[in-house]
Amino acid sequence: MHILVINGPNLNMLGIREPNIYGSNSYENLCSIILDYAAEKGVEAQLFQSNHEGAIVDAIHEAYRDEVDGIIINPAAYTHTSIAILDALKAVAIPAVEVHISDISTRESFRQMSYAGMACEKSFVGLGFDGYLRAIDYLIGK
Ligand code: DQA
Repeated sequence: MHILVINGPNLNMLGIREPNIYGSNSYENLCSIILDYAAEKGVEAQLFQSNHEGAIVDAIHEAYRDEVDGIIINPAAYTHTSIAILDALKAVAIPAVEVHISDISTRESFRQMSYAGMACEKSFVGLGFDGYLRAIDYLIGK
C-alpha cells in the first residue's frame, strides 16, 4: 500500500507557530512519526509539504499518475478557501482522508467550512499528530 501525506501552508512551521494550538513538535518530528508508524504497518508513505496551492494541486495529480492508494491531506488554511484542491481530489478519485491538528470545529467561524473535506471519506480533527496515524489506520482498514 502506497500513501501520500500532503501538508499545506505554514505546517513547515510546526513547533514555532502558535505552540498553544499546534504543539511544540516540529514538522520534521511529524514526518518521522508518520514514517515510523507507516513502516510498522507495512505501508509506504510519501510526504509532501507546500505553501503553494498550485503545488498541492500538482501533487494530487501526480498521485494519480503514481497510482497512489490513498491520500492523507491537511490543506491547512487552504482547507477553508480552496475549491482547486477540492476539485483535484475529486478529479483523481483516490480515497482521501482529511486531518487537522487542531479542532477546527471549535475555532473561528471562518475555519468551520472545509472544501477539501467534501472530497474526503473521513476527517480526523483535534487529535494533534495522532490524527495522521488514525488516518493511516483508516486507509489500511478500508
Ligand atoms: C489546521 C487548521 C487550519 O484552520 C489552519 O489554517 C492550519 C492548520 C490544523 O491542522 O489544525 O494551518 O489545518
